[in-house]
Amino acid sequence: MTIAHGIRTLGVLGAGQMGLGIAYVSALHARVAVRLYDRAPAQIESGLKLMDKLLDKDVAKGKVGAADAKDARDRVQVVSQDEGLKGLRDVDMVVEAASENLQLKQQLFRSLSQELPPTTILASNTSSISLTKIAAATIPEGQSAASEEARRSAGRVVGLHFFNPVPVMKLVELISALQTSQETLDRARAFAVACGKEVTVSKDVPGFVSNALLMPFINEAILCLEKGTATRDDIDKTLKLGMNHPMGPLQLADFIGLDTCLAIQQTLYTGTSDSKYRPSILLERMVDAGWLGKKSGKGFYDYL
Ligand code: CAA
Repeated sequence: MTIAHGIRTLGVLGAGQMGLGIAYVSALHARVAVRLYDRAPAQIESGLKLMDKLLDKDVAKGKVGAADAKDARDRVQVVSQDEGLKGLRDVDMVVEAASENLQLKQQLFRSLSQELPPTTILASNTSSISLTKIAAATIPEGQSAASEEARRSAGRVVGLHFFNPVPVMKLVELISALQTSQETLDRARAFAVACGKEVTVSKDVPGFVSNALLMPFINEAILCLEKGTATRDDIDKTLKLGMNHPMGPLQLADFIGLDTCLAIQQTLYTGTSDSKYRPSILLERMVDAGWLGKKSGKGFYDYL
């Protein structure tokens, strides 16, 4: 039996590369109305420009009809700074795609649970942070975690982890918090499928499956560079030509964002106390320098 996701309007919180991509596939493939909010108006502006560019390119390539592209673009509305999170009040689901920071996500989910009706699904695109911790933040202060209200509030929180670039990557990793209800999981999965994605399921452990595997791999590549085992280009070339990876690990780290890689690695390291996840000093120093990869114009490679 196909489960209906029942999402007519989606709120997207954060208009960075992930949020924008999620808005794009939701409007184009799942054909839902999208409310896009970011506390930085400039981020929304550049995000929407990118969406226009992507749609134009898909139309030019004949992958999307001009009318479908226009409909998709018309489905995306911006939530004003004055409205803030209140502008998401009538959506059926929110996907949060803010920075990879536990306190920020807990604070956002606490505010969302206060502003939005208890039926709204609250999904996070987190790459590594515990959904159980995020869900617990939605429980009203003074409430017992076992109360009906608390169960309902935390039960609608779920992890919906998209991959970059969202329009291209076929996967969504679905993560259940300890508190997530079966209905929330089923609807979130159905929504990801409607966005044209395949779904895998991971337990709520640090990094889930994807980053528990990817981040040690990226970190080993950075350690190779740090130790002088090989040059940047030869490390990447080894993986591209020897193992058929579309990008070498250093290029991929730049593409993901070195601050994001560091934040994920720190979550893995503190969450497991396993030294194999300890971020390399070089990665830490590059982030200290503001060399965050492609988005900042400099990382392991130069982009200006
Ligand atoms: N947005 C939308 N579409 C994009 C895009 C973007 N940012 N970048 C590239 N594309 C599209 C292109 O338009 C092109 O589409 P067509 O096939 O229709 O022409 C297609 O992708 C291929 O692009 P290019 O020919 O320009 O370049 P490429 O062949 O090198 O592919 C790539 C680019 C898809 C990014 C490829 O290099 C790749 O797959 N890299 C690995 C990406 C990856 O591993 N992502 C996961 C990162 S981890 C993550 O996101 C989660 C996390 O938790 C950290």
